[in-house]
Amino acid sequence: MSLTTFRPSAPERTAKGASPERDSAAKVTVPSLLDKKLSRQPITVVTAYDYASARLVDEVGLDVILVGDSLAMVMQGHENTLAITMDEMLLYTRGVRRAVRRALLVSDMPFGSYHVDDREGVANALRFVKEAGAEAVKVEGGRERTALVRRIVDAQVPVMGHLGLTPQSVHRMGGYKVQGKTLAAIEDLRADALALEDAGCFAIVLEGVPRELAKMVTAELHIPTIGIGAGPDCDGQVLVLHDMMTMTFSPPAKFVRRYADVSTVMREALGNYKHDVETRDFPSDAESYHLSQETRDRLAALAEKAG
Ligand code: KIV
Repeated sequence: MSLTTFRPSAPERTAKGASPERDSAAKVTVPSLLDKKLSRQPITVVTAYDYASARLVDEVGLDVILVGDSLAMVMQGHENTLAITMDEMLLYTRGVRRAVRRALLVSDMPFGSYHVDDREGVANALRFVKEAGAEAVKVEGGRERTALVRRIVDAQVPVMGHLGLTPQSVHRMGGYKVQGKTLAAIEDLRADALALEDAGCFAIVLEGVPRELAKMVTAELHIPTIGIGAGPDCDGQVLVLHDMMTMTFSPPAKFVRRYADVSTVMREALGNYKHDVETRDFPSDAESYHLSQETRDRLAALAEKAG
């Protein structure tokens, strides 16, 4: 399957329900994100895991859609991100790909897909592009990943780095804890960030680190930093869609801003539907299909004949 498979064809573009204005907005690319850093325009990133939500994100005009492995938690109910597989990530990415025209589509490489050796990591990165239409991949880790990053970039797949609170290291970190709080940890993270930039990453997610550290790293790098729980001085911000929409079931982390209460909207709607079905209010006659008058007359005549 080639990448062209994922470009919407002309009939799709003009199909009912398509938004022609989406086509006129400039496509977000790796170079255009670098331009945004240079011109100090904030980069907007959000996760999405399915066609409908990705389509909304794209229509609203956010820069980057990340098919994050957080989907293991928010879509599949796992306790952490470790269980999700390559095949599952590819499946979700394909659904998102069908929705996205403008945003840059980045997929998370899942735990285990790049940890055995670099050769397997490169092969899996290529699968995201060839089999699911991703335009870039994200890997967690610092200096220990630079050889891998170089090889993936050599294979023409752009790589986003991810430092700080890296959820795939939950067991090593002993839980989801803010990282980079000591002088030694600050130095480590700065060295990791510079090494990832040198290896060819086009952007780095900084997760769960003090604002001061994120600001320092953002100033030092030529590539954009994308913060999540890293304060306002990063070049861009990312949130998990389900967190910002209140589609999660435990108290949010400090950095999450709730932009909508979708759970409440859905609960009310589902309760109303249940009530309407149970009271036979739904569906109404107007919400039903009907036979033509001619067919009804014929049926009536047949019934009369049959006695
Ligand atoms: O998996 C994910 O959603 C992420 C973001 C939180 C950056 O890695």
